[in-house]
Amino acid sequence: MTTVDLPLLPLGRGTDLSAERGVECPGDLPAASDPDLVARAAAAKAKLGERVFVLGHHYQRDEVIQFADVTGDSFKLAREAAARPDAEFIVFCGVHFMAESADILTAPSQKVVLPDLAAGCSMADMARLAQVEDAWDALTDAGIADQVVPITYMNSSADIKAFCGRHDGAVCTSSNAQVALEWAFAQKGEDAKVLFLPDQHLGRNTAVLELGLELADCVVWNPLKPNGGLTAEQLRDAKMILWKGHCSVHGRFSAEVVDQLRATIPGVNILVHPECAHEVVLRADLVGSTEFIINTIEAAEPGTSWAIGTELNLVKRLAKDHPDKQIMFLDKTVCYCSTMNRIDLPHLVWALESLVDGTVVNQIQVDAETEHWAKVALQRMLDLPGKTARD
Ligand code: 13P
Ligand code: SF4
Repeated sequence: MTTVDLPLLPLGRGTDLSAERGVECPGDLPAASDPDLVARAAAAKAKLGERVFVLGHHYQRDEVIQFADVTGDSFKLAREAAARPDAEFIVFCGVHFMAESADILTAPSQKVVLPDLAAGCSMADMARLAQVEDAWDALTDAGIADQVVPITYMNSSADIKAFCGRHDGAVCTSSNAQVALEWAFAQKGEDAKVLFLPDQHLGRNTAVLELGLELADCVVWNPLKPNGGLTAEQLRDAKMILWKGHCSVHGRFSAEVVDQLRATIPGVNILVHPECAHEVVLRADLVGSTEFIINTIEAAEPGTSWAIGTELNLVKRLAKDHPDKQIMFLDKTVCYCSTMNRIDLPHLVWALESLVDGTVVNQIQVDAETEHWAKVALQRMLDLPGKTARD
C-alpha cells in the first residue's frame, strides 16, 4: 500500500509542529529596519549570560552568526549541544531537524529554541514516517527486511530518526556517512543492505566513492510510486536502497558549470558538499561537509582559486574572510537556502528578549517515545569510531 501524503505547506503557513513543514511564527517581531537590532541582541544575550548558549550553522546569515557562541556543521552542533548541560536555553540558529536533535541530546530541563518555526528543511520533508513504514513493509514482503539496516541523514525529522533507532539503524551526517555505512554493512554480514534516508545523493556518493560499491548496486525508492517503483527482485539484488530525496539548494550545481570553470580558470579547485549530484561530485577535486569546506579553505595557499558548491551565505563568508584566495560560487545564479535564511536578526532579537522577559518562545520539544528511539540512533552515530578525512 502506498500512503498518500500531503504536499509541502507553503513556508510560514500551517500548524504541523512535529514536521519540517513551514509553520506559522506569530511572534511580535521588531522591525527589520530598527537600527538598534544589533545592540538589542547583544544586550539581551549579555543579560542572559551563562543561561543561554547560541549555536549557529554555517549557512546562517552573517547578522545572526555574529551572535553564535559556536558555529559548526550539523555533526559538530549536535555534539556541542550535548556538551552544554549547564545552559538553561539553547538557541538554535539553524533549521528544525537540527533543533530537534539538540532537544533529544540535551537534558529534559534544558529548553531548545528555534527563532523562526518556519525554518524547516525541504529535504527532511521528503521522507515522512508513514511513507518509510510503507517501504519497510515492502522490504518485509520481499523477504529482506532482516538484512536491511536503515541509516538516516541528520537532515530528517525526529520520527524518522526514531524509526532507525527502533530498527537497529543509526543517524549519519555529511562528515561521517562513510563510517556510518561501514558500520551498517558490518551489522548484517555478507547479505547486508542499507536503506538510506532521505538524501539519495549523499547515499550514492558515499556508497560508490567511499565504499567502492557499483552504481548498479544502488536502487532508488520513490515513495510516490507503488512499491517504490521497484520490483521485489530489484530490492533483493540491491545493496543500497536510496530514498528519492534531495536538497534543492545543492541540486542546482551542474557538471556543465564545473566543465566551463575548468576551461576558463586554469588550476581552479572544485570543492563541493556531498549533497550535490553524483556527476558533480565525480568532477570535483574535494568533497565534504560544511566544516570540511571551511577547514580546506583555511589551509589553502594564498593565490589559489576555489569554486565552491554549497550554500551561498557560507561561500560569501569564506570569500570575505580569505581575500588572498580567489573564491567563487559554483553556480551562475544566487542560491541561498531559503529556510536557513528565515532566521534573521529580528527573530533572534525577539527570541532572546522573550527569554529575558521569562517567556520561552518557539520551544522545540520532541515527545518522549520518539525522543527515546531517536536518541538510540543518534547515540549510535556519536559512538561511531573515528571520523573520515572529510571532517
Ligand atoms: P552539514 O552537515 O555539512 O553542516 O550540512 C547540513 C546541511 O543542511 C547541508 O545542506
Ligand atoms: Fe535542507 Fe538543503 Fe537547506 Fe540543508 S541546504 S537545510 S539540506 S534545504
